Amino acid sequence: MVVRIEPSILSADFASFASEIARIPSADLVHCDVMDGHFVPNLTFGLPMVQRLAQVSALPLDVHLMIDDPDRWAPGYAEAGAHTVTFHAEAAASPIATARAIRAAGARAGIAVKPSTDVAPYLATIGEFDQVLVMTVEPGFGGQSFMADLMAKVREVRAAIGGRDVWLQVDGGIGADTIATAAAAGADTFVAGSAVFGRDDPDAAVQRLRALASA
Ligand code: DX5
Ligand code: ZN
Repeated sequence: MVVRIEPSILSADFASFASEIARIPSADLVHCDVMDGHFVPNLTFGLPMVQRLAQVSALPLDVHLMIDDPDRWAPGYAEAGAHTVTFHAEAAASPIATARAIRAAGARAGIAVKPSTDVAPYLATIGEFDQVLVMTVEPGFGGQSFMADLMAKVREVRAAIGGRDVWLQVDGGIGADTIATAAAAGADTFVAGSAVFGRDDPDAAVQRLRALASA
């Protein structure tokens, strides 16, 4: 199985994103957490930042929208040049229409579920999505503890994906002590913030995580 490691710049130096991304050449994509202070209590950055990062990053961008009304805003992130745009099921009025709009704008479309959200209703139309993100913490902040009881949901998504080219992403508390558990449950795309940018050598951390997930 292909393993993708996506460092989250939520744990990087906010004054130096371009040089922070240059420190992780072994990563597959850069995970960008857009938070609006409404869907989640925290506030990070928005479209102008993602537009600029798409211009300067050597790695493709995986945008995780933790915002209200993604139906309105998500396609703009695809137009900005994001590789993947993932929005939350809890916030979307029309998930399928929004996923189609993301794809029409040239990006892969992802749908995310919080720990307490049932993923089953979205698995019935899984062909509309290119990525399913199973949150393994409550969205909003980095550095929280991995919720291992979400592995049943990861297995449920893995079974629904079958042979489709749909990435199964986990986000929250992923590190050297948890990534193998998530991989064993069927995840193939791993977001890690503090476990990468909290290290002296973030690229070595990426390589170690990849080895642990692949073992
Ligand atoms: C949390 C964000 C995560 C965050 C993960 O809401 O979606 O992407 O950066 O941080 P860690 O890996 O430190 O749990
Ligand atoms: Zn995230």
